[in-house]
Amino acid sequence: MVDATFNFPKDFRWGTATAAHQVEGNNNNNQWWEWEQTPGHILNSDKSGRACDWWNNAEADFDRMVELGLNAHRLSVEWSRIEPHEGVFDEAAIERYRTMLKGLRQRGIEPMVTLHHFTNPLWLEERGGWEHTDVSVPLFARFVTKVVQTMGDLCDLWCTINEPNVYALLGYVTDGDMPPGVVNHLQRGMAVLCNMLLGHAAAYQVLHQHQRQARVGIAHHMRYMHPLRDGHPLDGLVAAFQDEIFNQSILNALTKGRWDLLLRLGHPPSARSLRGTLDWIGLNYYSRQCTVYDPHSPGTLFGRLVNMPGAMMSDFEYGEVYPEGLMPLLKRLARYRLPIYITENGLPDADDDLRPSFLVRHLRVLWSAIQSSLPVAGYYHWSFIDNFEWSEGWRMKFGLYEMDPLTQVRKPRQSAFLYRDIARANAITSDMVRMHTPQLLEAIFP
Ligand code: FCB
Repeated sequence: MVDATFNFPKDFRWGTATAAHQVEGNNNNNQWWEWEQTPGHILNSDKSGRACDWWNNAEADFDRMVELGLNAHRLSVEWSRIEPHEGVFDEAAIERYRTMLKGLRQRGIEPMVTLHHFTNPLWLEERGGWEHTDVSVPLFARFVTKVVQTMGDLCDLWCTINEPNVYALLGYVTDGDMPPGVVNHLQRGMAVLCNMLLGHAAAYQVLHQHQRQARVGIAHHMRYMHPLRDGHPLDGLVAAFQDEIFNQSILNALTKGRWDLLLRLGHPPSARSLRGTLDWIGLNYYSRQCTVYDPHSPGTLFGRLVNMPGAMMSDFEYGEVYPEGLMPLLKRLARYRLPIYITENGLPDADDDLRPSFLVRHLRVLWSAIQSSLPVAGYYHWSFIDNFEWSEGWRMKFGLYEMDPLTQVRKPRQSAFLYRDIARANAITSDMVRMHTPQLLEAIFP
């Protein structure tokens, strides 16, 4: 009988991740709230509404995190609450965040604070969101200054911006899934992407000026890009192109201080300020993306997304479960010799039939990565609880905890118990696998 234990390093971070707009409720002063009011923007015309009611009571879920044995949580602060009007800061909102951060720390949970997670205050949106460098970058830096001045005693692990590539491409280039819903405008999308990276660099400086021990990184969404037809030159070309624009150009900008060809389309100012602005790198990893060449898909850069026949799929149309993609991406990131956090990883799986094996298989890859000396310091599962999943509304269930947005009733899924066992043991054991995903036993513990 197989019997083994895969231990994680002593100070490994076991956490979950959320974003303000998806969990707090009534964030009615940002562009997403406004976007939700137009029928057709969100699946089933869902609205974020009360979300998970964290603005009133995040603490009840923090207690549940303690029950799961977690020692870390990544959350975001909502710019439109803290600065409801340009230049006007809301001390009561800041106080609420302070209470949350204290609440996490008192429970032995280290907060990682994201400073921008897809939402802009309406007043910024009216000034073009991230389209203009001289507007968005200094305004973001001023907001970050306020945050570090008022919350810096409670947090020193900062994630500047969540997924600038997703924000720029889904908002300006691909399918108009995110506000402002511009389609096929590569040049504007690239300008936005560059401005967000410049915003990251400005935030990095501000955080370090105000806090010596600040540890500052970014959450970068990377997909494992793959040509559908192995060896097909055009599929290969398109996959390489998508890898460059979605995954690599951002890393090059942040580490080398240079804009690659496509980013230059946005006519950004120099990238020099970006160089060396990472103390760690965050990887948001969900899936493999298979592409087939399609001359009629300029919005997706001539690559149509397709699913590999026979692939294991989550509840999301293109959500292939592909833990094998994690290792090559980690190896690529490890070249930068910075600590790596998995800032998001998870899947929509309402009936929780895939999540236990998803968890074990991804964590098994992480364990191997750590064995080969890749510097992975923590794992933040997306998400702790079902929440408002942007354009997919409430249909996509990413939570370890199930939650009904109408009744607010929570219920742990089976995988919450599995994650609890892993976090408490700081290990994956064959017993756990036997209990939660017996069919994987041989594959994981050969
Ligand atoms: C990521 C987002 C996060 C959540 C997950 C499912 O791209 O950062 O807010 O929506 O996807």
